[in-house]
Amino acid sequence: MTTRHFLTDLDLEPDELVQVLNLADYMKASPYEITALAGPQTAAVIFDKTSTRTRFSFASGIAHLGGQPIIVNPGEAQLGHKESIADTARVLERQVALIIWRTYAQAGLEEMAEYSRVPVINALSDDYHPCQLLADLQAVREQLGSLEGRTLAYLGDAANNMANSYLLAGVNAGMNVRIAGPEGYLPSERIVAAAQARAQRTGAQITITTSPEEAVAGADVVATDTWVSMGQEEEKEQRLRLFGDYQVNAGLMEHAAEGAVVLHCLPAYRGAEITSEVLDGPQSVIWDEAENRLHAQKAVMAWLLVQSGRADEATAE
Ligand code: CP
Ligand code: NVA
Repeated sequence: MTTRHFLTDLDLEPDELVQVLNLADYMKASPYEITALAGPQTAAVIFDKTSTRTRFSFASGIAHLGGQPIIVNPGEAQLGHKESIADTARVLERQVALIIWRTYAQAGLEEMAEYSRVPVINALSDDYHPCQLLADLQAVREQLGSLEGRTLAYLGDAANNMANSYLLAGVNAGMNVRIAGPEGYLPSERIVAAAQARAQRTGAQITITTSPEEAVAGADVVATDTWVSMGQEEEKEQRLRLFGDYQVNAGLMEHAAEGAVVLHCLPAYRGAEITSEVLDGPQSVIWDEAENRLHAQKAVMAWLLVQSGRADEATAE
């Protein structure tokens, strides 16, 4: 049986994405029923960057599934200093049932997966944040009832991991995705081409624009992310100026559809990419989105274990 990994949003086929979201809903309703890590088996949760939500949701989720997390903070393992990624994978696959890794380069995750017979999950890289998008799509589906044919607008730093993941996961779910940011901070040709290829299969439409109003006009979902991602702290002042026109505020939300919902993966710089008025307002589903990290990640962990022949269907349905 081939090991399944979750390194980018496109690692799930459109029908598989629906399976995982359905499982996430089931797990939200019945938190302790599915025991895909019973034993307890262990799961490595490795951080090369800091985290609040990802750390707590994976640790809690692994425990809910009957397992035990082993959390590794930045700089604590030999990985990245004294030992190659391939050799780390060869060791970990003999110790743990899952490898969950937050790191910088996507290539590192690909190398880990290449040498691991246990599923590897991307817990955020410079290029993607696919676990976040599972939680986001679950939250949107809860609010709007469906994803296919809905319009999602993402604004701000449109060249970062969240922009890429909104584009890829959105079209994978059959949503029309509009991405808005300043010239030079838009998704790369490679990401747009990958999104277009998937969109042709799901019927989704893609718009890349520098106009925040064009992106948000009639949108069902408005999403943003920090303008200063981890590792970009030295560019903070320049970035706050650069993205200033893309703030999600009450004025911009007037262009969205009635009943539109607002997403932000958090942490937020209140008053920069989003105002507190919107973040704390009635259209915000940001706290549900944060909660859903737990449910969605439990679902993808159980799903990958079953698909990889490492858990029974019975423990993950
Ligand atoms: N949204 C998110 O991944 O949050 P953390 O960086 O706190 O894990
Ligand atoms: N784009 C942000 C997301 C944080 C969850 C970052 O990479 O820091």
